[in-house]
Parts: sequence; C-alpha cells; structure tokens
Amino acid sequence: MMIVCHTVDELRNKIKQVCKAGASIGLVPTMGALHEGHAALIKAAVENNDFVVVTIFVNPTQFGPTEDLDSYPRTLDADLSLAKQLGASLVFAPSAQAMYPSEEMTWVEVTGNLTKVLCGSSRPTHFRGVATIVSKLFNLVKPTRAYFGQKDAQQVQVLKRMVKDLFFDVELVIMPIIREADGLAKSSRNAYLSKEERQAALVLGRSLEKAQEQFKQGERKAKAFIDFVSGEIAKERLAKIDYVAVYQLPDLKQPSAIINGQSLLAVAVYFGQTRLIDNCILEER
Ligand code: PAF
Repeated sequence: MMIVCHTVDELRNKIKQVCKAGASIGLVPTMGALHEGHAALIKAAVENNDFVVVTIFVNPTQFGPTEDLDSYPRTLDADLSLAKQLGASLVFAPSAQAMYPSEEMTWVEVTGNLTKVLCGSSRPTHFRGVATIVSKLFNLVKPTRAYFGQKDAQQVQVLKRMVKDLFFDVELVIMPIIREADGLAKSSRNAYLSKEERQAALVLGRSLEKAQEQFKQGERKAKAFIDFVSGEIAKERLAKIDYVAVYQLPDLKQPSAIINGQSLLAVAVYFGQTRLIDNCILEER
C-alpha cells in the first residue's frame, strides 16, 4: 500500500513512525511528470532503503517570472500509479501554500561561482529556489539517502555544497543521465517539443557523445570542445544556444586552456520556447 500525503502534518506523523522503527529512508524529490529518468531514481531508492518517499511539487520559487511555471506538465494520477508500481512507500504532493505558508520567508542560497555560471547566469534565482525547497524536504523527510539525476549537473554540485555547508546528515546519490533510444536526454520538458524541434534536439546528445570521443582520442583544449559542440548545434535551424561551456568539477571554476582533472561540458539550448539542458563529464579513466 502506497501512502499519499498532501499536508506537512500528515507527512511528519508518518515520518515520525518510520524513524521510530529505525528504517532507512530514501527520498526522491521531483516536480512530477515522471519519466524513465525519475523511474531510475525511484528504483535505486527502493533497492537501497526500507522506506521510499517520492515528492511531487512544481516548486514556484525555482521558476523565473517569464518561465514555464504555469504550463509545466502536471500529471499527478499517472505519477501516483508509476510511483506505486515502482514500489514507493509514500508520495508527498503538497500545495504551494503548504510549502510556502508565509510571504515573509527564509531562503537557502548557495553563493559564488556554483550558482553564477551556466544556468545561474540565465536563471539568476533558480538555484536559490532549488536549495530552499530541497532543504525543506530534507528537514521534513529526514532521508538517509536522497536521489538526483546527473542531467541537472549544476543542481547536483549546488546541492552537494549545501549539504556540506549546512551539515545535512544525508547521502546524495547521483544517478546517470537516462536517454531515449535516439539519444535525447529524458526530461519532463521534452513534452513541449514539436516533432521538428524534437528531431533538432537530437544534436545535443549526438554532439556531446562526439566530444567525449574526441576527449578519448586525446583532445584537451577546452575551446576545441566548445567550438565543436557550438558548431554542431548552430547547424540546426531550430536551435538557439543559451550556453555551451566547459567548467572544472566540482567547483565550476573556469578551466585552464588545457583541461586537466574532471570537467563538465554543459549545454543549454532553446528549441522554440523550450529550453533543454544536457551535459557530459570529461575525465581521464
Ligand atoms: O530536479 C528537479 O526536478 C527539481 O529541481 C527538484 C530537485 C525536485 C527541486 O524542486
């Protein structure tokens, strides 16, 4: 039996019982419109924890004023049946009022490079919204482990920083990017794409894969990867680049001209109104 909670009190009461029983708790925070990427997170959580909480909340504070908050896909019934099928113990699907009860509110903000570059530059308040809601969820659910996807590579680094800085007693488990058979990274926003835009968007996975191949062949110039991927994307008439960039991991500092250590090659590209992100890690194996 999967429990569904909509209020903070219901969730807290249940988590109290689970903690009392000494069970390990896996948390999978999502904004719903669940796809195979989320399914992989839920499956991993079910395998490794006694009790799994999936949260479904389209978090308003991580959307900018001109972004897609209102049109973001909401598919609660389908999400509940997928979560149940995958073995989740509890779904928490609160209202915005439940999570943000007052106009005066407390923010959790990771400052510096980590939130200034890449998506932080075009979405300046996004990571403050993410860090705030994830902190609230950590405090409510008290997870042993929390699961996130590598597709949101910058979010991963921001949350790692936050967990360290605020001494959250949780293990972050980062799962690899899940792709469609043709290479498109799974995303709830893929649902917005027209047939032509979706076809054009394949350039992202394709060019990142080729870049990784070039890295394996010995290419190490950061600019060469940026030029190559930008060039491939620019060939697509329907694509408009937000960024194509290489940064060092884990701190997202500018790499030296010649990459060494682990680096992130990340892209954000508009296809029509839809902004997609994708990335790969460049590292010596
Ligand atoms: O990755 C997401 O879907 C969201 O940013 C998250 C972590 C659920 C916070 O709203």
